[in-house]
Amino acid sequence: MIEVHKLTKRYGYHLAVDQISFEAHPGEVVGLLGPNGAGKTTTMRMLTGFMPPSEGSARIAGFDVLADSLEVRRRVGYLPERVPVYPDMTVKGYVTFWAKLRGVEKPRARVDAVLERVHLTDRRNTLVRNLSKGLRQRLGLAQALVHDPPIVILDEPTIGIDPQQVIEVREAVRDLGKHHTVLFSTHILSEAEQVCDRVVIINRGKIIAQGTPDTLRTQLQHGLSLYVEIAGAGKEAGAKLLKALTGVESVTAQGNGFVVRARTDVRGEVADRVTRAGYRLLELRPVAMTLEDIFLDLVGRGK
Ligand SMILES: Nc1ncnc2c1ncn2[C@@H]1O[C@H](COP(=O)(O)OP(=O)(O)OP(=O)(O)O)[C@@H](O)[C@H]1O
Ligand SMILES: [Mg+2]
Repeated sequence: MIEVHKLTKRYGYHLAVDQISFEAHPGEVVGLLGPNGAGKTTTMRMLTGFMPPSEGSARIAGFDVLADSLEVRRRVGYLPERVPVYPDMTVKGYVTFWAKLRGVEKPRARVDAVLERVHLTDRRNTLVRNLSKGLRQRLGLAQALVHDPPIVILDEPTIGIDPQQVIEVREAVRDLGKHHTVLFSTHILSEAEQVCDRVVIINRGKIIAQGTPDTLRTQLQHGLSLYVEIAGAGKEAGAKLLKALTGVESVTAQGNGFVVRARTDVRGEVADRVTRAGYRLLELRPVAMTLEDIFLDLVGRGK
């Protein structure tokens, strides 16, 4: 279990993480979603006992990250943003090194098991320097899992790897969530939606929303998006007419028509205005906002 309470980090005067609170439970994958500079890595470094918080607290499996950082490290598997590699070690040597460092009993069996798990068994004698980026990421995962930690923290594990491996890593994370508490960061909303049971959205160090992907979608969608197609009016005239309606926030051309974002349900007004202007309304239907739209909207508003 991860419990975060008003966790805060300042770098000098810069507030990188600002009073964030959330929890992650065993058997749950929680996604930390935010754009560049949001504070994801800083949060994870505090949770893994690598950096003290400026204020607030966090507990990992019941241990305080500041007061019991050794206990915390024993219980956390951490895949950092940049995996430290020792290029002249073999894959097996590297994972064995971490196993011993963490005091794993029967390291040999454990290393074999974890290499099997991340599908690196056939590369066990390959030098780390010769691994592709994707394989290196799997090696990082092996390092994070070798001591069989109850809590796993993964900092943007799919960055910079090819699409096939992205799919594999996402599956591996989902799989981990069955038996571990997993905190996983990403700046890709669709990835958070696919992989996580719950998403914590941060921007500029602050939590701006959290919940399951479904609840986020319903709670955060303010107003309505409509697809409107008009016959008889040119693109410009059509857009102008729609923009003039009260409550309409934006009008963008799409296909043969427009997507209208509005604060309120303006379907009646749209129908009235179009017919009164002497045009014909060919189509008027609500379009589901994707979580991506909602996310961009939220992050944009924070600026
Ligand atoms: N060691 C540091 N010293 C000073 N400022 C830092 C340091 N590390 C991070 N920052 C600043 O703190 C803020 C949060 O950075 P952080 O790396 O936690 O964000 P992030 O969400 O991980 O971003 P990214 O998606 O780019 O990895 C940024 O404004 C960053 O410039
Ligand atoms: Mg980061």
